[in-house]
Amino acid sequence: EKGGYPNFMMKEIEEQPRAVADTLLGRTDANGHLVLDELRIDEAVLRSVDKIVVIACGTASYAGQVAKYAIEHWCRVPTEVELASEFRYRDPVVNEKTLVVAISQSGETMDTLMAVRHAREQGAKVVAICNTHGSTIPRESDAVIYTHAGPEIAVASTKAFLAQITACYLLGLYLAQLRGNKYEDEVRELLRLLAEVPDQIQQVLDGIEPVRALGREMASAKVVLFLGRHVGFPVALEGALKLKELAYIHAEGFAAGELKHGPIALIEEGLPVFVVVPSPRGRDSVHGKVVSNIQEIRARGARTIVIAEEGDDDVVPYADTIIRVPRTPTLLAPLVTTVPLQVFACELAMAKGLDVDQPRNLAKSVTVE
Ligand code: M6R
Repeated sequence: EKGGYPNFMMKEIEEQPRAVADTLLGRTDANGHLVLDELRIDEAVLRSVDKIVVIACGTASYAGQVAKYAIEHWCRVPTEVELASEFRYRDPVVNEKTLVVAISQSGETMDTLMAVRHAREQGAKVVAICNTHGSTIPRESDAVIYTHAGPEIAVASTKAFLAQITACYLLGLYLAQLRGNKYEDEVRELLRLLAEVPDQIQQVLDGIEPVRALGREMASAKVVLFLGRHVGFPVALEGALKLKELAYIHAEGFAAGELKHGPIALIEEGLPVFVVVPSPRGRDSVHGKVVSNIQEIRARGARTIVIAEEGDDDVVPYADTIIRVPRTPTLLAPLVTTVPLQVFACELAMAKGLDVDQPRNLAKSVTVE
């Protein structure tokens, strides 16, 4: 069943080009308009939405954080992301004009389900993004986009995460089209760029051996930090979570801009720090600022492991190790930059002799609050 892979997680990592491609399949109707899988919300209601709240747990919440950048940019609707367990118990302000997006691989996560019920009681409409057909969360929601990642067996989420991000982009483009923020040709162009991403993920996987070697080499690491900015920030958080879950290593993700507000005090000789570097292109690029961050931590002795786009030479003087990823549009980058971090965590955990498919203390689907 593992198809020659040492564990399900490695197999599922390798299946990611397919998971993203399948999630993109068949999303437009005869007129080229985007369609959701199930829609029990009046389109007029979707046009009048004045706030979007994304609720999810764990890895799915990081997909939600990526969604915030894309949805606000494309749709100009204020978008918040909240952990489902916090949302439910803080008396959140939601009403008929709020669209709640619930992201869940399993569709059975109790924290997320309770948040969905609470939001609907307040009159909000709920769109579920889910990998499991007919599970509870999509059944209790007003609209559904299914991710087509296929069954995810390993407890740590990998291909479902990339599929969730993909579905979030589709939702963002759907809303932008419906609400008139984007013209049809702009949406079509973004869909075309998205359709290129599976091949770009495959390129990352084809060149992954040095990342595996790094994982094996770092098997005795005690602490690893991850920095990212813009959409690279949730990627850093996901990289840290994978390492905690699989390898039981203390790992933290930080927003690179926050470094000087505290975390830089942690930097000492030899401390490994992964940095997810944003694209150097784009009008509001924070690329230069992140390159300065790499310089600052390296000057304080950090071992810098930099994930940067092909052709980005600015990072070269400050990187101890460079992991290259193909060029993508800025907002789509998490689909490629996440992959080396997953492989690194998996390989490191394997080198430690750990059970990567079933890490200690964890369950695939958390059905209690
Ligand atoms: O099934 P869900 O997407 O609702 O699960 C949410 C989290 O429990 C899940 O992503 C968890 O954080 C994983 N262990 C991450 O690898």
